[in-house]
Amino acid sequence: MDFNKNELSIGVFDSGMGGISVLGDLMKLMPNENFIYYGDSNNAPYGLKSVEEIVNLSINVCDFLISKGVKGIVIACNTATSAAVKILRKKYNIPIIGMEPAVKPAIRMAKNKKIVALATPITLKEKKFKNLLKKLNIEDDIIKIPAPELVCMVENGNIQGEKAKEQVENYFNNINLEEIGAIVLGCTHFVFLKDIIKNVLGYNIKIIDGNLGTAKHLKNILKNSNMIYKNNDNQRVEIYNSSNNEKMIELSYKLLEFIIKQDNIA
Ligand code: DGL
Repeated sequence: MDFNKNELSIGVFDSGMGGISVLGDLMKLMPNENFIYYGDSNNAPYGLKSVEEIVNLSINVCDFLISKGVKGIVIACNTATSAAVKILRKKYNIPIIGMEPAVKPAIRMAKNKKIVALATPITLKEKKFKNLLKKLNIEDDIIKIPAPELVCMVENGNIQGEKAKEQVENYFNNINLEEIGAIVLGCTHFVFLKDIIKNVLGYNIKIIDGNLGTAKHLKNILKNSNMIYKNNDNQRVEIYNSSNNEKMIELSYKLLEFIIKQDNIA
């Protein structure tokens, strides 16, 4: 039988563990597709690096994924998307899908109250995010909270318990929760902290991330470009990590299971 390009896997990457939350949703929404994941934990967090560094790291990761044979790449990282998506799209001739903080759906949910954007310093500071706020005309209604320590929490597998709770509390210390209608998780790592955030805020605030939106976007692209792998009833996933520590691979599978178990795919 001829080699069929549609049978190639989809590459997914992040600075580390965060993109695993996206990977889980991709796998659930597209059970026919195979995936290759690369977490660059050795270089995490990206959110405190320069744009140039993030671009170079992202190119290295994409080169690796392409060497494995992938038909498309999901940048499961808001930070790498802000810094590198344009360059990656120019460089590679396969679909490159990026992420964006889910501000648009948050506007509907916030019901005229303010929106908190919890993300990395780079994502909040880059042009891409500023342009998004401008386009939606909500620059004055956004409270930006850069939260790099939360990335490290997740990289260390701290997604439950007192330490993570304290850290989240610190970030919301000076925020008047009465004013807030929605919280946008603009970093894929933070999806793992959703329960803690809900718990800490103990308030009727909607929390939204861009994972499912990204998964649906990829599905559409595959469909419109006739790239769907149709007859695969044995979905495979391979996980790589730049840290040579076997524990990071173990943690990746544990976090993946955590997402797969959630019943969030309609
Ligand atoms: N998970 C990444 C994001 O969505 C970034 C985390 C980091 O700073 O490395 O932005």
